[in-house]
Amino acid sequence: MTTNLILIGFMGVGKGTVARALARKSGMFGVDSDDLIESIENRKVKTIFEEDGEDYFRDMEKKTAKWLSQNVTNTIISTGGGFFKVDDLNKIGKVIYLKSSFEGIIERLKVQPNAKQKFNKRPLLKDMAKAKELFFERAPQYEAKADIIINVENQNLNKIIDNILEEIK
Ligand code: S3P
Repeated sequence: MTTNLILIGFMGVGKGTVARALARKSGMFGVDSDDLIESIENRKVKTIFEEDGEDYFRDMEKKTAKWLSQNVTNTIISTGGGFFKVDDLNKIGKVIYLKSSFEGIIERLKVQPNAKQKFNKRPLLKDMAKAKELFFERAPQYEAKADIIINVENQNLNKIIDNILEEIK
């Protein structure tokens, strides 16, 4: 396969986990948009938000998207929850939306061994009411951008990977 696979979806839905498992099973390589930004900035997303604000971070996402579309092929790209808003997302590759309810996402995060850290590192999860509002605002937007929608709520990771591999055949 020469095209990239881009995983989009809300914070905490498991984009990174799915990307790593998919990379192992498919043999493709993977990168993560937040990791790329953190690496060139040499600071965490949380710190970027605190020091330079959300708009600066969104500009970095746009730069990352442009670079990915010009330089990366045959790669699994996991993304931050707001990355899907960049221009021409589908020029980067096939867009896969990992879908779950808000409650499903929060429950998933709560049972992770490092749950506290998972909440802490995400500035937009600080206020649960606001996060829920953001979820409902974004849910239809994710669907609209997706080439493929994969239900991940209460699904076993292997099953999720098999479903993705089946869909991209
Ligand atoms: C964000 C999601 C985060 C990160 C940043 C903003 C968002 O990534 O990019 O905190 O706008 O939804 P995850 O989806 O990996 O949590």
